[in-house]
Amino acid sequence: MWHTMEMKRFFIKNYGCQMNSYDSSRISDLLVKEKYVQANKITEADIVIFNTCSIREKADEKLFSDLGRARLLKVKAQSAYSDFLIVVTGCVAQLQPERLVEKAPYVDIIIGPREIHRITQCLDEALRHPSAAPKILTDQTNQDKFSCYDEAQSLQQGETSMFLTIQEGCDNFCSYCVVPRTRGREFSRDAADVLKEARQLLSRGTKEIVLLGQNVNSYRGVGLDGKSWNLSRLLFALAELDELKRLRYFTSHPKDLDEGMARAHGEINILAPSLHLPVQSGSDDVLERMNRKYSRADYLGCIDLLRSRRPDMAFSSDFIVGFPGETDNDFQETLRLVETVKFSQAYSFKYSQRPNTAAERMEGQIPENVKSERLTILQEILNFQQDQFNQNCIGRYLEVLITKRGRHENQWNGRSEYSQAVAVEDNSLSAGDLVLVKITDRLSHSLVGVVEK
Ligand code: 5AD
Ligand code: SF4
Repeated sequence: MWHTMEMKRFFIKNYGCQMNSYDSSRISDLLVKEKYVQANKITEADIVIFNTCSIREKADEKLFSDLGRARLLKVKAQSAYSDFLIVVTGCVAQLQPERLVEKAPYVDIIIGPREIHRITQCLDEALRHPSAAPKILTDQTNQDKFSCYDEAQSLQQGETSMFLTIQEGCDNFCSYCVVPRTRGREFSRDAADVLKEARQLLSRGTKEIVLLGQNVNSYRGVGLDGKSWNLSRLLFALAELDELKRLRYFTSHPKDLDEGMARAHGEINILAPSLHLPVQSGSDDVLERMNRKYSRADYLGCIDLLRSRRPDMAFSSDFIVGFPGETDNDFQETLRLVETVKFSQAYSFKYSQRPNTAAERMEGQIPENVKSERLTILQEILNFQQDQFNQNCIGRYLEVLITKRGRHENQWNGRSEYSQAVAVEDNSLSAGDLVLVKITDRLSHSLVGVVEK
């Protein structure tokens, strides 16, 4: 069997967060533009790309088991004299390229998150001039990543809800986190580029845009007037776009939540009344050692400020249990904070020691069994709150953005302003409609409702 360059098939697997998922889509766009064909299964590909996450150790372990499987496919392809390339992109590639080469010397190309736009060039070279040594691209100073996407993106059909990265990188250096090392320093795209990409998405049928950034509310981009714009300014500009029915953004840092953002939530009606605001811990001591730059009272102040402008505001959050030195008392403080805020949804994790972070070397690392115990307790309360939140939606009217046909006839599925899955019993709808739905029932992971006519 022979392949021409045009016929190479690639398979891409995404790990981790929404920023990665956006990057994976952009990688696909770039490759499709260069006449590569996307394969749905790893066994049908000549090029396997793992777009990796290194936030916790688990994601990292999963990668190495997937790499082992890809290696077998490579051996098989090579014994049939076919090309086969293994590419690792994303945060693991950036964090420890040497370790990757050592543990998986059969990887052909290693590309950090800020360099992924150079993937086509790397593949081209690797296919033309196969070499034993892997190609490594981990420069973080490059700011031209986003400028390559414009044209390529138009190749893919838009969906009802799409991600749009407006800011990348992090300067906060929370003591547990590898992100400042993997994604590099903060960089904000120009407002003109963001608006251009938003218009492209809308012209292809997108109705909801989810703005992404590691620290989306520290956005400082060049505005249309040449001055520096912050996130609220950008939100007001995006809200002017015709056809845009809903706007969301994440992830926000509590220290950057200002009066302007509260005003945006009070005044922009297409801005969803929900906010993902990671707190990590409810203890001032722990927050201090985490280098979060806010106190428990500051966090609660943010919640009050937003609720004063939008009483129907719902909050989701991230938590870390078992951070070095976390006492039972600290943990109780976290539970008390949870009781006060009442979250609509949350993610919680056991602290994971990460390379080259300040907390890696801190005293008082917590034993695994204590971390597990605390996580179970916390998750029980968070799950209960999520259930309560959903239960309280019964009888309420929610704005549902219809995304696709439902499982039953006469049923459409969509998402509420709080991101809940809602099945709507109505045949006259179509994807992209935004309808007011009276919630009548609740299943374990979704709501059910009808459009009142
Ligand atoms: N251990 C556990 N959780 C972590 N997070 C980030 N770094 C770590 C770590 N070392 C969590 C934080 C963050 C989310 C994206 O991942 O809660 O908000
Ligand atoms: Fe990591 Fe903190 Fe930056 Fe979030 S703000 S990416 S947790 S360093």
